[in-house]
Amino acid sequence: MDPFNPMKPSILIVDDEQHIRSILCEILASLDYNVFAVGNGKEAIKEIEKNSYNLVITDMMMPEMGGLELLEAIKPIAPDIMVIMMTGFGTIASAVEAMKKGAYEYVLKPFKLDELISTIKRALDKQLADKKDIKIKDAFALLNLNEAIGAGIEREKVIAIIIEATLREIEADVVTCLLRDESTERFKVKLKHSLEDKDFGELLGEFDSEDADRFFNQDIVFLLDKNEIKKSFPAIPNVNDIVSFISIPLKINNKIIGIINAYSFTPGHNFTEGQCKSAAIIAGRAASIIDNEQLYDSVQKTFKETVKSFAFALEAKDQYTHGHSEKVTLYSELICRAMQLPEDETEKICLAAQLHDIGKIGITEEVLNKPGRLTFEEYEIIKSHPVTGERILRPLHFLKDVIPIILYHHEKHDGTGYPAGLKGDAIPLGARIIAVGDTYDAMTSDRPYRKGLSFEVTINELIRCKDTQFAPEIVDVFIKLMEERYDKGEET
Ligand SMILES: [Fe+2]
Repeated sequence: MDPFNPMKPSILIVDDEQHIRSILCEILASLDYNVFAVGNGKEAIKEIEKNSYNLVITDMMMPEMGGLELLEAIKPIAPDIMVIMMTGFGTIASAVEAMKKGAYEYVLKPFKLDELISTIKRALDKQLADKKDIKIKDAFALLNLNEAIGAGIEREKVIAIIIEATLREIEADVVTCLLRDESTERFKVKLKHSLEDKDFGELLGEFDSEDADRFFNQDIVFLLDKNEIKKSFPAIPNVNDIVSFISIPLKINNKIIGIINAYSFTPGHNFTEGQCKSAAIIAGRAASIIDNEQLYDSVQKTFKETVKSFAFALEAKDQYTHGHSEKVTLYSELICRAMQLPEDETEKICLAAQLHDIGKIGITEEVLNKPGRLTFEEYEIIKSHPVTGERILRPLHFLKDVIPIILYHHEKHDGTGYPAGLKGDAIPLGARIIAVGDTYDAMTSDRPYRKGLSFEVTINELIRCKDTQFAPEIVDVFIKLMEERYDKGEET
């Protein structure tokens, strides 16, 4: 091989077909690249170990070592090499797999020459950009949080990761994230992260939204030096110690929802244009993550409202159970609080309480409102409502932890309940709690064939059925609660 010209990018062609190697060598050499070609992955590795390459263009299917294997072998020895896969229709799936594993792009065989050339140019440009201190790859990996968002990760954690990524990416001493406070319309620091947890004194804690709109009117990312900082932010208490400062808006649909500020207090460490770009890319990603998360919040809110109207729709069918879901939810919440259950558990149980009889929506009004005794068949229909409820809600993935509580709210402590005949602790805690609140409300409410039972009678009945129908510890908690409320004259 001729010695490479170090001023030109070097490309290694890996293909087992001689004619493809020759054509590509000829064309790429004419475009002023250093080019060398080998016939399989093993030879390619030897060549990469010997000489420095910018780009490898490799076939997928080759004897000895194929493209995918080659890619995996290249990454540890020369992580900066860009890899383009050449693939036929039959191996597209493997080429996509290769991209997931770090290949830059794939081109379909037979390739169009201009397409291949523009892919090569893009790959080399990207490599150059990466070298120019825009180390965004790591940041992207860190910020690849969409799945986490889907799983309901809290906003605080998202912000913490964003801040950490910024801090690391641009080697700042402190990074803060300010979010818009909807009530005051001012931006306030929500999170601060310092390198090695050093204290750099008081930073810019608030930002007026009008100022923010003015400052960031054209997507500007501030990159300020010492003198500019003093001029623009004289109010920062330790403004004299700041060496360099970047301020980036988090924008969604042109509305600023937050600001990321990065500070350097290290003498001589001024942020570069490249670092500024990195930070801006992270901020862009951050804004969309926060937006997704806010969307998630609003979907949740809408859902909760829908749940309520569901429950009301059900109660409209069953005139005697008006307000039942609300009551059962209240009792369940009181029990959860008295048992000091975690907030998310309490919320889950309350949601289940609101929806516990949703399956009755499939039962006719004649059966639901029947004044006399139910026949065996009618009782079987009524008994189907937990299973129907489970079926209605099953497609709603975010209710997956709530559904079992609904499904098992008619199980009994001694295993004689329905639908599964679960016993004791095998019954979900939420279902055991709802069962007590549900029965209490059913007994104290008027029915078509009887008046509601008195407080004393109901309490005695709960005590009588403790150990058989209900979880004893929950009955104890509930009775204590209700007696306190009764003594205080509160509505029971
Ligand atoms: Fe029920």
